[in-house]
Amino acid sequence: MTANSPPSRYALGSTDSEHERLIQQAARLARCTERFFREAGIGKDQRVLDLGSGVGDVAMLVAKIVGPSGEVVGVERDPRSIARAKARVAEAGLRNVSFTQSDVSQIASTRPFDAAVGRFILMFVPDPVAVLRSLSELVRPGGILAFQESSWAPIFAISTHLPLWSAAASLMCETFQRSRANPEIGLALYRIFQEAGLPAPAMQMEIPLGDDPDFIRWMYDVICSLRPQIQQLNLSLGELGDFDTLPERLQAEVAASNGVASWMAVVGAWSPKA
Ligand SMILES: C[S@@+](CC[C@H](N)C(=O)[O-])C[C@H]1O[C@@H](n2cnc3c(N)ncnc32)[C@H](O)[C@@H]1O
Repeated sequence: MTANSPPSRYALGSTDSEHERLIQQAARLARCTERFFREAGIGKDQRVLDLGSGVGDVAMLVAKIVGPSGEVVGVERDPRSIARAKARVAEAGLRNVSFTQSDVSQIASTRPFDAAVGRFILMFVPDPVAVLRSLSELVRPGGILAFQESSWAPIFAISTHLPLWSAAASLMCETFQRSRANPEIGLALYRIFQEAGLPAPAMQMEIPLGDDPDFIRWMYDVICSLRPQIQQLNLSLGELGDFDTLPERLQAEVAASNGVASWMAVVGAWSPKA
């Protein structure tokens, strides 16, 4: 960032509807994320740090994996999200999940963790190499760093038959990029882990596909959360046509293609700390 550039703003905001969107997204991705964490070596009795915990879905999923004798500490800088996460954890009766309000670049801990994990967080930090490097100080030797992040490039390649869907995805990516987030960070994790002093990570990619109205609404809901930022950046929603009918038109486009729409590719990367 240059001295004159505006400060970054978290593009998705923290409204109640964004919290609901995160919860629905988490339900859709739960199995993909759980498989990934188990393969990365997250397991029973571990003490795990969850970065950018949002309204608590990844922390609760990890709590299920580590069991009652494990522990999860979520780190989140937004107080509204933390309040919602704490309420959900209490409602779920989980006593081994706590949250701390902090920027992920400034985490302090006196006890080492067995693992540090996160989903859709490194894409939002200005210096993911520095964050991973400082994070690895908090993980015991042999412990695990495991992150799931996004990549949209494959989606554009396989969605050329869906012009409206592609236009919505383009606007979303441009909004993230202009807000200084990196929606393409997924494949770059290979380099980022190594620049942070970690071994070359094992990696995988999973692409959710669907044609049902809930799946199609995923796109509309993200654009709704991004809308204030789209307006602030003077980006145009014009290419998407009448906004109120966007979900129906996206649905009709996918139905007419007699195919499925593709959500972002979820790229997982994990390494043990040497
Ligand atoms: C897209 S949400 C993902 C939430 C959760 N990991 C999930 O997958 O459901 C990203 C979260 O990271 C938080 N966040 C973004 N930048 C952060 C930073 N530098 N420090 C702490 N939290 C941050 C946001 O407030 C938001 O709650």
